[in-house]
Formats: sequence, structure tokens, C-alpha cells
Amino acid sequence: MAPRRSNRAVRDRLFAAARRAMKNAHAPYSKFKVGAALLTTKGRVFTGCNVENASYGMTNCAERTAIFSAVAQLGPKMEIRAIAVTNNQNAPCSPCGACRQVIYEFGPKAVIFFQAANGLKEMPITELLPEGFRLQ
Ligand code: THU
Repeated sequence: MAPRRSNRAVRDRLFAAARRAMKNAHAPYSKFKVGAALLTTKGRVFTGCNVENASYGMTNCAERTAIFSAVAQLGPKMEIRAIAVTNNQNAPCSPCGACRQVIYEFGPKAVIFFQAANGLKEMPITELLPEGFRLQ
């Protein structure tokens, strides 16, 4: 299968999973529900939603929920191939800076699918996070 086509299949599958996860969001403060779904390099899919807190700073973004769930299930060697992010307001929403760094930790070659101002976008994490930090 040609890479472009398989990327589209991956994208559609991940957005469908992200939309399902978004319904579980706990976002009573912002009302901005977010869902994320990631595909590992070995073909497993994990999902997450944002989980807010009355102490706002404790909020966990959908992307990090999905990544931490994958690590909890598979261990720290799991590698992210792709991750899709969606929200309930059809608003432009790329991963926040903190999530970009966490995506980079587990997927230095990951591709991110997200809603941009002019439609869906696909970008490598290295473009969203140039010079990402690594200790090893
Ligand atoms: N949020 C995410 O879950 N992912 C993003 O990429 C952007 C922001 C959440 C955090 C908070 O619960 C709400 O969206 C508003 O910032």
C-alpha cells in the first residue's frame, strides 16, 4: 500500500477512536472536550481524554492521558507512530507545548494529526517541536 494511502487509513482510524474517547472527557471548567488516539509502531491503539480538576493546574490533556495509558499497558519501550487529536468545538487544536515534549519522548518520529485553522493537518513531531529535549 502506498504511504500516502496508508497514512489516510491510519488517520481515519485514529480520529474515529479519538472522537469516542472525547466523550469521556471531564471538562466542566473549560467545556472544551478533547480526545486523542495514538498508534504504536507495533500497531496497538490507545486513547485518552482531557481530565480537568477544580485546581485547574492539575488538568491532564487528552494526549498525555493516551500516552500514559499506553506506557502503563505496554511499558516505556512502546513507541508512538502517530497520534490524532480532536475536540468538541471543531476548533483548531494542536498539542500544547507540554504534550509535544511528552510525545517526543515516546515518539521522536511520530506524526501528529490535528485540526488546524484551515482543516486537518499532518505534521511530524520534529516540526511541531524543533530541538526537543532528550537526556539519552
Ligand atoms: N487540552 C487538551 O486536552 N489537549 C490539547 O491539545 C489542548 C488543550 C485541554 C486541556 C483543558 O482541559 C482544555 O483542553 C482547555 O485548555
